[in-house]
Amino acid sequence: MSTWPVVSLSQLSDGYISPVARSKAPLFCSVISIYITIPIIGLFFTGVPGSMVVTWTTFNKTESKVEYGLLGGRLFDMSAKGDAALFVDSGEEMRKMYIHRVTLTDLKPTATYVYHCGSEEGWSDMFSFTALNDSTSFSPRFAVYGDMGNENPQSLARLQKETQLGMYDVILHVGDFAYDMHEDNARVGDEFMRQIQSIAAYVPYMTCPGNHESTYNFSNYRNRFSMPGQTESLWYSWNLGSAHIISLSTEVYFYLEFGQELLFKQYEWLKKDLEEANKPENRAVRPWIITMGHRPMYCSDDDQDDCTKFDSYVRLGLNDTKPPAPGLEDLFYHYGVDVELWAHEHTYERLWPVYGDKVYNGSKEQPYVNPKAPVHIITGSAGCREKTDRFNPNPKEWSAFRSTDYGYTRMQVVNATHLYLEQVSDDQYGKVIDSIWVVKEKHGFSAWF
Ligand SMILES: [Fe+2]
Repeated sequence: MSTWPVVSLSQLSDGYISPVARSKAPLFCSVISIYITIPIIGLFFTGVPGSMVVTWTTFNKTESKVEYGLLGGRLFDMSAKGDAALFVDSGEEMRKMYIHRVTLTDLKPTATYVYHCGSEEGWSDMFSFTALNDSTSFSPRFAVYGDMGNENPQSLARLQKETQLGMYDVILHVGDFAYDMHEDNARVGDEFMRQIQSIAAYVPYMTCPGNHESTYNFSNYRNRFSMPGQTESLWYSWNLGSAHIISLSTEVYFYLEFGQELLFKQYEWLKKDLEEANKPENRAVRPWIITMGHRPMYCSDDDQDDCTKFDSYVRLGLNDTKPPAPGLEDLFYHYGVDVELWAHEHTYERLWPVYGDKVYNGSKEQPYVNPKAPVHIITGSAGCREKTDRFNPNPKEWSAFRSTDYGYTRMQVVNATHLYLEQVSDDQYGKVIDSIWVVKEKHGFSAWF
């Protein structure tokens, strides 16, 4: 029996989204996909009214407009305009599309809004979203997964329903979309965006890039998603509740042909971001630092991927670049990263607190209470055409629990000391097959000792 959500049952009803009437107007323009991404401005600080970006795609050039209003109030009494950027796919057909982005500002935290998007030439269906609670005492609930494709997206139906039931505040998609967005002259990307609209039009859909986005230098990914910062969604950070969340590209370690400098740039940015997040005044209000990146530092799959080797690039860096490229394990350990979310392996694996290939449990009885190293979760089994992976029969001692069922992870950052994680098996009809509480009375580097 799932204990989800773990606290504040009232939040479920607060977050519940009433069905809204469907527009009777014919859809003139080809609105193929709408998703709300993060509050770009203001969410980094408490007390600043939230904002959301609404994004959608059309094949003809039209205005970019969102009409919206508070649920229960007058429909569409507010409107906002944005821009449409031309995206030309690099496939043979050089298909053109316009990616619209409209930022809604001055949203009331926790208020639910009904909206549609488009222009006088045609409107989308109506959707609704709840502006994110901007309090540091907020306990946000996340669905976390990677590796979900256009074909065989086994967990999608469950995620659609649970999102529409109001069970999540944010989705974290940890890389590998569509398989692959560029295929069939990017029509697979269009179709995938249509598929996730039933999730992403209702809650912020936060992403990081994976290897399946690499074709044409990640252009489908960089154009279709709209994450904060100025890196075309490659790396960025943001805050929610008592968490500072960092999204990064592990792919900079593998696609050096797109620029080795990206690797160093990201590393420098990560260092700066972690330094800032660790300033006492910042860590006091956002004690949890959570990272998400596609390829894990550790795993016990049998597919000979990076993490199956002791010297994972992501973990230890590269020696054949000039200068040698640093890995991320030491950096994350040094700055006291609490939880590291990964995907890429089409399995679920929970690790004991680990650093330098060694286990550092809080204690024998309570490994995740005051752990002495970061906690890693690998959750790449949402479902795709490549099916699930197999495990190495002899995992290392840091492997705590593993499953080859299709599924996804739920995470709730409950408060400054408690964080809850559970794994849902789609194969077992939504059964929770694993769960842990990570409890930390102290955060940061000093928490390890
Ligand atoms: Fe991958």
